[in-house]
Amino acid sequence: MKNLVILVSGSGTNLQRIIDTIDNGEISDARISMVVADRECYGLERAKKHNIENVLIPRGKNFSSELAETIPANTDLIVLAGFLSILKPEFCEKWNGKIINIHPALLPKFGGKGMWGHHVHNAVIEAKEKQSGATVHFVTSGIDEGEAILQKSFEITEDDTPETVAEKVHLIEYEIFPKAINKVLNNIPI
Ligand code: GAR
Repeated sequence: MKNLVILVSGSGTNLQRIIDTIDNGEISDARISMVVADRECYGLERAKKHNIENVLIPRGKNFSSELAETIPANTDLIVLAGFLSILKPEFCEKWNGKIINIHPALLPKFGGKGMWGHHVHNAVIEAKEKQSGATVHFVTSGIDEGEAILQKSFEITEDDTPETVAEKVHLIEYEIFPKAINKVLNNIPI
């Protein structure tokens, strides 16, 4: 049984999807051993509702060292599911190949510092992009630069707004995130 630690900052609908797909067997032979949040958020409440060990480490001076101490040594995969703090290079190196993130755009486009949530969708609409989508990728010290594991796109229509793009991206995330987690846990080549 593989141990997943999920890091969240927001509403945690992707966390919920991971919980549900572990329950229904889409993600096989895995459990969530802990949910870590960097702020009070609904993602933390979801963990509590499902009796998953949960830890709040508020952002600030000691965040990185506390996070490093909190992650259990037997963790097989650290999953960033709407997690907005930047991880230190030492942390990324220690867990190299064992941290993945979901990003709400088609990386390498619309990634990097400040590109999260609605900022991404606003930028996509502003740039009159024809497509958007979601990417699951390995986490390295370069923000949103690690190797892609799975990516899926959709066509943007003339009626789309940042809000409708966000909804469409979320649906794609719910589809590719469990698949990407399975892929990494079972060492299936990218
Ligand atoms: C997701 O769309 C995820 O891709 C994005 O935050 C949202 C979290 O939603 N992550 C980033 O922007 C990270 N750069 P959720 O809390 O409902 O899962």
